[in-house]
Amino acid sequence: MNSRDGFNSKLGIIAAAAGSAIGLGNIWKFPYMAGQFGGGAFILIYILAIILMGYPLIYCEFALGRKAKSNAVDTYGIVTQNKKWNIIGYIGVGTVFLITTFYMMITGWVIYYLWHSITGNLYTVPESVQATEYFAQFFTQMNSSMWAPLIFALIAICLTGWVNAKGIGEGVEKYSKIMMPILFIIFIILIVYSMTLDGFKEAFNFLFKPDLSAITPTVIISAIGQAFFSLSIGMGALVTYGSYISEKEDLRQLATQVSIADTIIALFAGLLIFPAVFTYNLEPTAGPSLIFISLPEVFLKMPGGRIFSILFFVLIIVAAITSMISMLEIMVTFVDERTKLSRKSVTWLIVFVVSIGGMINIAGEGPLSFIKFSGKTIFECLDYFTNNITIPLVAVLTAVVATWIWKIPNLNKELTLGGRNATKSDHFFNLLLKWVIPPTIIILMVALLLGVQA
Ligand code: PHE
Repeated sequence: MNSRDGFNSKLGIIAAAAGSAIGLGNIWKFPYMAGQFGGGAFILIYILAIILMGYPLIYCEFALGRKAKSNAVDTYGIVTQNKKWNIIGYIGVGTVFLITTFYMMITGWVIYYLWHSITGNLYTVPESVQATEYFAQFFTQMNSSMWAPLIFALIAICLTGWVNAKGIGEGVEKYSKIMMPILFIIFIILIVYSMTLDGFKEAFNFLFKPDLSAITPTVIISAIGQAFFSLSIGMGALVTYGSYISEKEDLRQLATQVSIADTIIALFAGLLIFPAVFTYNLEPTAGPSLIFISLPEVFLKMPGGRIFSILFFVLIIVAAITSMISMLEIMVTFVDERTKLSRKSVTWLIVFVVSIGGMINIAGEGPLSFIKFSGKTIFECLDYFTNNITIPLVAVLTAVVATWIWKIPNLNKELTLGGRNATKSDHFFNLLLKWVIPPTIIILMVALLLGVQA
């Protein structure tokens, strides 16, 4: 390959990187986790994790990628001049493969809900049945079948593949620049409505007045894991995007912008969902089904609910697809650079293999739901394994490689390419990367593996 594809504009990079970060993690997972883990306490730890760990890890991944100008696996070997470190990249790419297999399933669920909001099916509640029961049944019925979730998941992954096949500038960048503004506009419309609801104040207090006694090791681990997942850290996504970023860009600045955008959207998703949950007396601790079971009940009760329902599901689909684009891109760049196949063939090959994984996940929720490992379905196992083990592991090893092997002066130089000297606060974050983040995460992972629950 002679000339490497790349992003054409700063706005394009920000749209793509923010598009990768903002996804199901923000709109589907963050609110239900905050709900389950005590609201404000979880959010406080989450924000600290974003600032003290997420931000430096983002610029670290960007810098490694841009230095090596290679895929998420070979970057580690190139920068350290020792191919053994490629193992980190292999774990990262393996992780993203597993995540994509269930991410496509959940995106498929959302498209299913969008479809049934448009046709009105979702809201034809028989008089004899209570709304809560009806929506629970609606979800179970979808989730326990095979064909409908599979077809909708395939639509999701093929739409994504279609963008990736076009390349970085003409595909990833172009469509991120179209989709991200749409996402923000829909978000603002929904938030403004949400602020008019009676439950807004209660929701605000639930989310932003932390009850410090609710902070436990489990809450801390979950909040950090969620922060990494949400920022797309620890699986090669930002290494890959970093490799396409022009040398003019200040990577610290980009890292700041991406973390701020991602955090704002997560908090807003909380402010979008919880006022409705409190206004209509629903359960904030509902879990993964929060947006599929609780929210439709809200839409059913609110004036103009069906329109809001359609907007809301479109919003999540846009967010999910821009994230999936980055997931596929990690695998596409890797296979493309390691083989002689064209980008198009590589993309569709990967879509095919990921779809088989997706099918296994979908079957694991439906016809094969009797297959359980310590009470968890296949999807729940993959989610748990990647979120709590491989993502933190890759994040720690990346910080170690950058600060101990590649070394901080090289990292600093790459971040601005000599554009400016590192300030005191820049040094502070580098020290966190070197001395604080690795041991903290390792201790937390060990605690989790040893089963510290409280
Ligand atoms: N950050 C995305 C989200 O919040 C998920 C993601 C994971 C994206 C891995 C890219 C790579 O939904």
